[in-house]
Amino acid sequence: MPAMRKIPVNLGDRSYAVRVGPGLLDELGRTVASLPHAGRAVVICDSNVAAIYAGTAQKSLAKARVAGEVLMFPAGEESKVLPVYCRLMDEVLGLTPPIDRNTVVVALGGGVTGDLAGFVAATALRGLRLIQCPTSLLADVDSSVGGKTGLDHPAGKNLIGAFHQPAAVLIDVNTLTTLDRRQLLSGLAECVKHAFIRDETLLDFIEARTADILACQTDTMAELIERNVRIKAAIVSADERESGVRAHLNFGHTIGHAIETSVGLGNITHGQAVALGMVAACKIAVTRGMAPPAALVRLEGALDSLGLATRENGLDARQLLPAMRHDKKARAGKLRFVLPTAIGEVAVVDDVTEAQINQAIRYISA
Ligand code: GLY
Repeated sequence: MPAMRKIPVNLGDRSYAVRVGPGLLDELGRTVASLPHAGRAVVICDSNVAAIYAGTAQKSLAKARVAGEVLMFPAGEESKVLPVYCRLMDEVLGLTPPIDRNTVVVALGGGVTGDLAGFVAATALRGLRLIQCPTSLLADVDSSVGGKTGLDHPAGKNLIGAFHQPAAVLIDVNTLTTLDRRQLLSGLAECVKHAFIRDETLLDFIEARTADILACQTDTMAELIERNVRIKAAIVSADERESGVRAHLNFGHTIGHAIETSVGLGNITHGQAVALGMVAACKIAVTRGMAPPAALVRLEGALDSLGLATRENGLDARQLLPAMRHDKKARAGKLRFVLPTAIGEVAVVDDVTEAQINQAIRYISA
């Protein structure tokens, strides 16, 4: 058994553990087999991940004598939509012998897979158990933990979905070695986000270990992931359905999601858009006198050393504002912003003026 870190997500009878370590994908079979009354496993992954990791997953299932099959969908953000979900459902429901309530769905891949396979698990036979096996840093530190599953709709991102907590999360740190740099940076933006909303010492860690992080050094990444998962787990345990503090995880997302929509999904990574959104939100906080200017300097410095852009040419408030108003996080047409008040602390406000938003967008467009 490889060296392993274990983080509990405390949610009463829906509690589960997130395990982090090198080689943990080899533990998939034993993890499925350890679930009460576990039946066969249905592994869902995209075409890229299938080529690299489906074999390891299948071997691990076979070793634990768990029957398993692998279902694939085309790699890419544009797969997180109803037609792809329907095709996967056709395949899941068409399996022979038919699936039953003991079937376990395994989401093997990045954020798109976690969302898509998670929504299949949430809806097939009114809910099957789900194991998240993330293979991207973004999925490791954010989307695999907390039970959000969802699909995009022409009206906006993640507008269709369900909360469906996994029964276990297995984070194999070795999968980061096959992650491309853009996707690594996308996950790092979420790590900076967690530091900014909850833990200045995590920001100290990221700043001090930037070189090891960018080199994907195994122990450093395991520690980075563990620290981030602990923050995410504490927030989800306190507010599973986002009626309170879970909204803090949306720091950088109000403007970030609008940037993703206006630049076009696939043209910018989620994390890069969130990085720009965090800079804009921090600028708003500084303008309003809520955060010290030093917070903005430190945020930009951390993002910059990691290689995340803090400016993007051609952003236009006239395009971004309507996208923000459409976001599901807007309430009764009012934009809600998560703004830093210090490094490690945020507040949710809904009285940011259009002038403040325009000024912040000009700032990150510079
Ligand atoms: N990614 C934000 C959340 O899980 O609430």
